[in-house]
Amino acid sequence: MAQKAKFASKIGLVAATVGSAIGLGNVWRFPAEVQANGGAAFLVVYVLCVLLLGIPVMLAEFSLGRSAGTDAVGAYRKFSPRSPWWLAGALPVLASYLILSFYMVVAGWTLEYFVQSLSGALYAGTADASGAVLDGVFRDRMREYICGSSGPLLNTYALILLNLGVLLFGVRKGIERLSNVLMPLLFVLLLVFCGVSMSLPGAADGLRFFFAPDFSKITPAVVISALGQAFFSLSLGMGILITYAAYYPKKTRLMRTAVTVSLLDMMAAILMGVVIFPAVTSFGLGDAELEGTALVFVTLPEVFARMPCTQLWSVLFFLLLLVAALTSTVSIAEVSVSFVQNRFRRSRRAACLIVLLPLFALSALSALSFGSLSGLKLCGLVFFDFLDTLATNIMLPVASILLCLFIGWRRPGVLRGELSNYAEADHRLQRPVAFVLRWIAPALILIVLVSGLL
Ligand code: PHE
Repeated sequence: MAQKAKFASKIGLVAATVGSAIGLGNVWRFPAEVQANGGAAFLVVYVLCVLLLGIPVMLAEFSLGRSAGTDAVGAYRKFSPRSPWWLAGALPVLASYLILSFYMVVAGWTLEYFVQSLSGALYAGTADASGAVLDGVFRDRMREYICGSSGPLLNTYALILLNLGVLLFGVRKGIERLSNVLMPLLFVLLLVFCGVSMSLPGAADGLRFFFAPDFSKITPAVVISALGQAFFSLSLGMGILITYAAYYPKKTRLMRTAVTVSLLDMMAAILMGVVIFPAVTSFGLGDAELEGTALVFVTLPEVFARMPCTQLWSVLFFLLLLVAALTSTVSIAEVSVSFVQNRFRRSRRAACLIVLLPLFALSALSALSFGSLSGLKLCGLVFFDFLDTLATNIMLPVASILLCLFIGWRRPGVLRGELSNYAEADHRLQRPVAFVLRWIAPALILIVLVSGLL
């Protein structure tokens, strides 16, 4: 995004930001985290994290980006030249790169499920003579796929190449336009699936798991996971929103935009929970270790198999998910690409190659984590989960603390000016937001971070 184009319309700007936010984070990561962290208790903490911390931090990114008009590292440099603050912009670049490396792998699973839905292979031989779906058949299929070597690896490579193509040939605008049409459709599909899921036998237990909190389940580990999930899902702490906001017109109301984006993103995640958890209890899934990370890929085909026109729903859903994933991978890659381009003065083509080629090795480690490399454990986690935990639960929160301190203490004028769009009067929420950014957010994030690590 070299030229200073501005977003043409208000809808376009909200849609692009929502497009970056909604992705595998909502559809794949959120249900897996809810499952691993005790259900509704996690949901409550997650919602609080989005509202109390997510929105203010998003406002800080928007303000910094729009007033600096450049990428994350450049924005810190602009407001604090010749100081180590640029490191606060470099951390997100590193975090986003690690996230990109495993995000590609999950996007690869999505590609596999899309292709298998299209060919019908996913559903072939999954029912008995009477048409009843065989017990655990989709769990076995996912396990077979994910534990294999060639499948996950090839699909991950396909995704890297696809990204390379999009970034090199600049068809990015096209993809974004496509996603602006398809994302509303994703909401519609989710609503349909919610209806189907809730009518499954035993659905009430799943809804209870998702919505009736048992507060004794809230531990520091649950809180840090909820915080990490909130930031991951809102695309915070990676410099993405700083970069996007650089393209916002001056009259855009940042507060309204932040609230709209956050609520829509949260809604997508919660709808996904309503689709998944009734199905999980109804089919007795969710116990095996694999069903954490790959929960959605095990559960959804079970739901589709019980709907009329199974293949059609399945193809449509995995296609939409693939597009959602692609818009996210491209935007995450953009963080590193523009960094390499600006910092090392490379051409765009060289920067794309420098960023994406090492992923053939790094992503492979994640792709094989559940199969041939499952013995490779770091801090007790397979490589994939280790990277996810490190980047999401540690690096994103640290980057966000630095951002809050920077905007809250070092450059408070940026927030004041940007929130009120440089009108004479202060925005009425400017004081509470500034207060949160100065005291509450850094302190809370730090406490959560430290207690989660102990
Ligand atoms: N927020 C996206 C998701 O939920 C992931 C993402 C992170 C996209 C950072 C862009 C930047 O999947």
